[in-house]
Amino acid sequence: MESVLITGGSGFIGSNLANHLSKSMKVTIIDDLSMGRIENLQINENVKFIEGNICDYSKLEELLSTYSFDYIFHLAAIASVADSVEHPLETNRVNFEATIHLLELVKNYQPNLKRLVFSSSASVYGNEPTIPKTELSQILPQTPYAVDKFASECYLINAYKLYNIPTAVARFFNVYGVNQNPNSPYSGVISILLDKYQAILQEKSAKFTLFGDGNQSRDFIYIDDVVQGLLLLAQSNSAVGNIFNFGTGNMTTLNELIGILDTIFQKNLPVERVAARKGDIEKSLADNKKLRSLGFTPNYTLNEGLSVYVNSLDGL
Ligand SMILES: NC(=O)c1ccc[n+]([C@@H]2O[C@H](COP(=O)([O-])OP(=O)(O)OC[C@H]3O[C@@H](n4cnc5c(N)ncnc54)[C@H](O)[C@@H]3O)[C@@H](O)[C@H]2O)c1
Repeated sequence: MESVLITGGSGFIGSNLANHLSKSMKVTIIDDLSMGRIENLQINENVKFIEGNICDYSKLEELLSTYSFDYIFHLAAIASVADSVEHPLETNRVNFEATIHLLELVKNYQPNLKRLVFSSSASVYGNEPTIPKTELSQILPQTPYAVDKFASECYLINAYKLYNIPTAVARFFNVYGVNQNPNSPYSGVISILLDKYQAILQEKSAKFTLFGDGNQSRDFIYIDDVVQGLLLLAQSNSAVGNIFNFGTGNMTTLNELIGILDTIFQKNLPVERVAARKGDIEKSLADNKKLRSLGFTPNYTLNEGLSVYVNSLDGL
């Protein structure tokens, strides 16, 4: 049986990946549970959970020198842009320093590794307005989070060129779905909206504060499509040494998103419109041709993904 290590494997994306892979592989997870939850995981005899910090390098060394992995998905991160602005040093340690330590350990102890996949972010493109973003679009990281993601990407790609470590990078656009932590400051607009609908269903008063005209748009990708893409990066030879946008190639405005949720919940969400926030990205859209060239096809429209997600939530 093949074996896989997932850092951050009890978080939103990691747990969905782990639950998929543990049906047919040995899955080891290291997570400090700062944001992840054990309850996200479907524990079976293939799953080994290690509570630990990826900045604990002796623990990481023990793990990588003891076990041989076929695949590593490096997803652990402080996934909050706002946190990185508040605490750039602390987030740099987790989001960047730990990445190069992991690479060093892979170089020293994992000669048979088939793939090391890193989770980057569309935030590396920053505010430059041209859309859609191809992997060759201008990089303008504007927060410590985005800088750390881009620096990590560079190390990953160079690790292939310099040491022949078979790396690949996923640049996630806006991922949503089951196991998303509604308390995570990164969960973003879909979680905030779902909280509001939940309040309305419980007959509490709630209104959504909308900054700007509601025409700001995002490329929302459902978690199962992300898992599909991550498996392609792990299995496809042409993924090695390459970076891939993870988006659907479709953009949805905030007004449209609220419209879809109004229909799903059969409620009209009260919206308070206020002035746009300075610095907010107006439009974000992935060109996903490169990922499609590996065989990727998004299976969920936003409507379908949201319906599945909403049905999975308690109390909705
Ligand atoms: N969700 C998105 O839309 C999105 C978009 C772009 C990039 N990403 C990236 O994808 C990855 C997964 O994101 P997610 O949405 O699942 O976030 P998440 O917060 O749910 O998952 C991250 C996991 O890492 C763990 N973690 C954090 N610091 C750690 C540490 N020092 N040691 C060990 N574990 C630690 C957390 O407990 C959590 O389980 C992250 O690298 C994130 O930056 C996510």
